[in-house]
Amino acid sequence: MTQHYRITLLPGDGIGPEIMAVAVKVMQVVGQHLNLIFEFQEALIGGAAIDATGEPLPAKTLDLCKSSDAVLLAAIGGYKWDTLPRHLRPETGLLGLRAGLELFANLRPAKILPQLIDASSLKREVVEGVDIMVVRELTGGIYFGQPKGVFATETGEKRGVNTMAYTESEIDRIGRVAFETARKRRKQLCSVDKANVLEVSQLWRDRLTALASEYPDVELSHMYVDNAAMQLVRNPRQFDTIVTGNLFGDILSDEAAMLTGSIGMLPSASLGASGPGLFEPVHGSAPDIAGQDKANPLAQVLSAAMMLRYGLNQPEAADRIEQAVMKVLDEGKRTGDIMSDGMTLLGCQAMGEALVQALD
Ligand code: IPM
Ligand code: MG
Repeated sequence: MTQHYRITLLPGDGIGPEIMAVAVKVMQVVGQHLNLIFEFQEALIGGAAIDATGEPLPAKTLDLCKSSDAVLLAAIGGYKWDTLPRHLRPETGLLGLRAGLELFANLRPAKILPQLIDASSLKREVVEGVDIMVVRELTGGIYFGQPKGVFATETGEKRGVNTMAYTESEIDRIGRVAFETARKRRKQLCSVDKANVLEVSQLWRDRLTALASEYPDVELSHMYVDNAAMQLVRNPRQFDTIVTGNLFGDILSDEAAMLTGSIGMLPSASLGASGPGLFEPVHGSAPDIAGQDKANPLAQVLSAAMMLRYGLNQPEAADRIEQAVMKVLDEGKRTGDIMSDGMTLLGCQAMGEALVQALD
């Protein structure tokens, strides 16, 4: 039976449009093979939206996203918009999209691929076999806590304020996603916090500990964030699933990503309790190489695979895409960011063509 899906595409800025084009092509080919019809609708976000409409997340874009089965985003931002006031910055559009779709759970896998092990800046014996899933809370914590702002004090001096706050229910819902995720993996969950200093972290730790009784098959441990940052480079294999708040997750997921050698390889999924999920590469818009056909489209393609697996429940299609990525890497095909001796250097489009061939 043919299945129809409405997918909102948000190519965004920088290398976004180039890598999105590859992901769309790959999805169309897989769709033909498996009788899946994707109805793609494109919308503006980030700098592209600012230039066209004056705002980073036009209401039309959010509405379109809400009415679709899943949202595939490429990347946002660039030097051009870096000096705009905060409410007009591309990042504000992305945060608005996460909040607007209530995407509180961000899954960021960092798995080292044997083909790329030498691209890691860490020694082979340290990173071999690394397979980590960072579950980051995405719509709370210091990113959204109130009060926030820059206020004048009585002396006239300015004071900048952000607030790290979590309610019990916010902690519980991300905690549950994390336990469920760990359950499907190696059943080890490490909760990362700063409970030795922060009250909000103590509540986080207490709730995670309370939830653990509902998941007796998952082994829960706790780690302070500074130690976790160190352990990730000292002995990353000790981690299976990590759950943490918004800010710590932002930082640790970049660190975990880099263990694998290239941030250009890593996809992510942002999910809510219901409604469409948002799928996007972990990397940014790379304005320095935009428009030069140099970008690595693989994280975008793997984000499409995550969308098929977690957003549309089409694991077969996801498997095929992931296998095609493995095949092109096995064939020695590389973009510049993951290039090494003896491999074949391809541009973004050529990498897309190689994927299409690998799918046939
Ligand atoms: C990320 C990014 C975003 C974040 C920025 C672009 C707002 O760094 O997705 O990790 O801080 O969440
Ligand atoms: Mg980040």
